[in-house]
Parts: sequence; C-alpha cells; structure tokens
Amino acid sequence: MTFREDGHRAVEWAADYLERVGELPVLAQVKPGEIGARLPKAPPEQAEPFEAVLRDLDELLLPGVTHWQHPRYFAYFSGSAAEPGILAELLAATLNSVGFLWRTAPASTELELVVCDWVAQLIGLPPGWHGHIEDSASTSTLAALIAARHNTGRNVVVASEHAHSSVEKDARMLGMELRKVPTDDAFRLRPDAMELDDAAVVVATVGTTSVASVDPVPEIADRCAAVGAWLHVDAAYAGSAMVCPELRWAFAGVERADSLVVNAHKWMFTPMDCSLLWTSRPDEFRDAFSLVPEYLRTTDEGAFNLSEYGPALGRRFRSLKLWAVLRCFGREGLQAKIREHVRLAELFESWVRDEPGWELCAPPQFSLICFRREGSDEENEALLERVNAGGEIFISHTRLNGRYVLRLALGNVRTTEEDVRQAWDVLRDLR
Ligand SMILES: Cc1ncc(COP(=O)(O)O)c(C=O)c1O
Repeated sequence: MTFREDGHRAVEWAADYLERVGELPVLAQVKPGEIGARLPKAPPEQAEPFEAVLRDLDELLLPGVTHWQHPRYFAYFSGSAAEPGILAELLAATLNSVGFLWRTAPASTELELVVCDWVAQLIGLPPGWHGHIEDSASTSTLAALIAARHNTGRNVVVASEHAHSSVEKDARMLGMELRKVPTDDAFRLRPDAMELDDAAVVVATVGTTSVASVDPVPEIADRCAAVGAWLHVDAAYAGSAMVCPELRWAFAGVERADSLVVNAHKWMFTPMDCSLLWTSRPDEFRDAFSLVPEYLRTTDEGAFNLSEYGPALGRRFRSLKLWAVLRCFGREGLQAKIREHVRLAELFESWVRDEPGWELCAPPQFSLICFRREGSDEENEALLERVNAGGEIFISHTRLNGRYVLRLALGNVRTTEEDVRQAWDVLRDLR
C-alpha cells in the first residue's frame, strides 16, 4: 500500500467520521481500563499495513473516544477543529518543521509571527505586540510568570479565587507564592482586596472557567502600574469572542497588559493545540528566555528565533492550521460562528429562566450558561450523570458559592439550534 492510497483512506475516514459524529454517544461509554485491556500488551514484531491501524481505530479505539467534534459537546469549554485546520495538521506533519532557529524553519517562524499579528488585529490589540504560539494556556501562563519574576525580581502571584487552576499549578511548579483574591457577587476579582506591594504578577481573567466572568482589568492595571507588577491576562476562552466588536467591552484595559493568552484551540475552531501568547514587552520577555549555546549560533542577520521567547526549543509548525482556519473563515466567518453561539446561549438561558423548577446561577456570559434544577446538590449531580450516560449530550459542572451547578458551554463549530433544543429536551426529560 502506498502513502497516496493510505492517505486517501485516512481522509475518507476523517470525512466519514465528521459526517456521522453527531450520531455517536458524545461521552465515551467505557469504563477506566477497558480500552487498554483490548490492546496488545506487546508491540508488533513484524510491520503491519496502515489499513490495520485504521481498522483498529474503528474497532478498538473509537468506542473510547469522547467526541469533542460532536455538535452536542457542551462540557468544559468546547474546543472543536474545523476542516481547514484538520487538513493543515496533515500538511504540518508532512513538513515536520522543527522551529527552534529561524534557519531550521523560516516559513514556520515567520508565518507564526504573521498569524499572531492577524489575530491581534482581529481581537483589537494595540499594534506592535510580539505574539507566538505555545501548546496550552497552562504553558503560556507559565511563560508569563517566568517573565514577570525575571523582570520584577519578586516571587508572588496574585489571582482571583476563580482564576484557572493552571495559575496555581504554574506558581507551584515555579516555587512562587500564590495569593488568592476574593471575588464580588458577579465572580469578578475585587481589586480593593489585592495586596500588591511584593507582587511579581497579577493574573486577571477575561472569561473565567466556571462562569466566564470578566475581572475589572482597568482597575487591576492601575494597581499593577502603581507597584511595578506585571499584568498577565488569561483570556484563554473568551479572547476569541473579541473578533466581535459588540463583545469587546470585555477587553477594556487589556491594552495595558504586559502579556495575554488566548487559546485558538478553544473558540477559534483550530485543532488542539494552539495557544496564542502575546507580550507588549518583547525585549523583557526575551530577556527571560534567551539562552543560545554555541551549537545554535548562526550568522543569519536579522533572524528571529522563537525558542528565545518561551520554554520549548523544538517547536511544531502550529501556525499552519491557524492560518488555514483564518483564511477559510475570514473575519466574517469567525464573527458569524461566535455570534451564533452567543445567540444560542441566550436562547437556552431564556428557556431556563422561563421554566418553573429551573434556576440560572450566574449572569450568563458569552456562550456559557450556569444553571441548576430545583433540589439538592446530590440530585443535580445525579441528573448530570444520567444526562451524560445517555450519550446524546455532554455537559459538565462547577461549584458556585458552595452549590453544585450545571454548565452548558457552546463553542463547537458544528452546533446548531436543533442541537441546543435537543440538549434542553434531554435535561427536562431526565430531570
Ligand atoms: C480561563 C482558562 N485558562 C486556562 C485554561 C487552561 O487551558 P489549557 O488546557 O490550554 O492549558 C483554561 C481551560 O479551560 C481556562 O478556561
């Protein structure tokens, strides 16, 4: 079998999958260990045809896939991959560029800078910021904390109690102290409760994980400026929504940030992984990371090595898939999808509000609805388990003010109004 024939089969497989993914159970209906037990314990001695891999993908692995590409995936923050991004991943693997120096990957390096600048324009950032791509928001924030510590010489990270757990994990990995700040009744960081005198960095969140609340970035920026603390903004989820001018109120003050992360793999329809990290202080950022041993020195004048801006040396050609998505959607295509998700979230919210026995638990924000059924925490948890076990939809939960709350997050490129109606029907039927 040749690469070309196997390739046709693989693309056929992908096209068939995307056509039928909506008929599969969203949440994998398997028990822990079940998939591993079906796989051979030892590697094959002899070469097998690629066809065997495709066959086992269907027979052995697919039952153990939770389908992020499913139009009724509403859990956590939905991250779906649009077709141009899927194809670009194949091409990136084909090229297998390893971008640690400009000369090892000139196109990858320069395209990465260009697409980050394109997205900066799309979401309304000031000109002149340096942007590059990391694997995840966890790594992007890790890099920001490193830059902050390097430049301030301080060791304290300040973030709200609703900041993503990656902030705490990053601080722990770095041996930095995390100071958690309480939030107001809309789950926003309270600037008056921040103690900043010895702070290296404040992480403000635009679109928190539990409720998509937006911290008051202008006030936080004022406080950071007063004490010389670094301001990092985590807009991993909501940042993509800034392509819509009517949602850009949420980015007020972000122009004063020292660094910012937005995950294109969350709400910009780009395959996992693709986390965009910008800094308004490129020289200071580079200063924290640049370390060029003799064997990596080159004579390329004006060359830009992205490995000097973050933890990784070898870097994938991630910009190709984002470039493909941006070109095949355009600003208008991205806006249309995001506006539709926000509209559907508002529709779902109105159903919850109007239905006796159901309750909204937080001000609805962007494409996330936090709600619960009348009754105890245990009853709501049992409802979530029933709903997810049915396989028609997949939702997740959080805890707000100590209470168990259901979350329905829209963001999948394939979700329609029909899917959201089905979600509501399932929830009401199984209540
Ligand atoms: C606000 C926020 N920040 C950071 C993260 C972590 O993202 P990643 O999985 O890319 O590390 C998440 C994940 O949902 C998030 O919601």
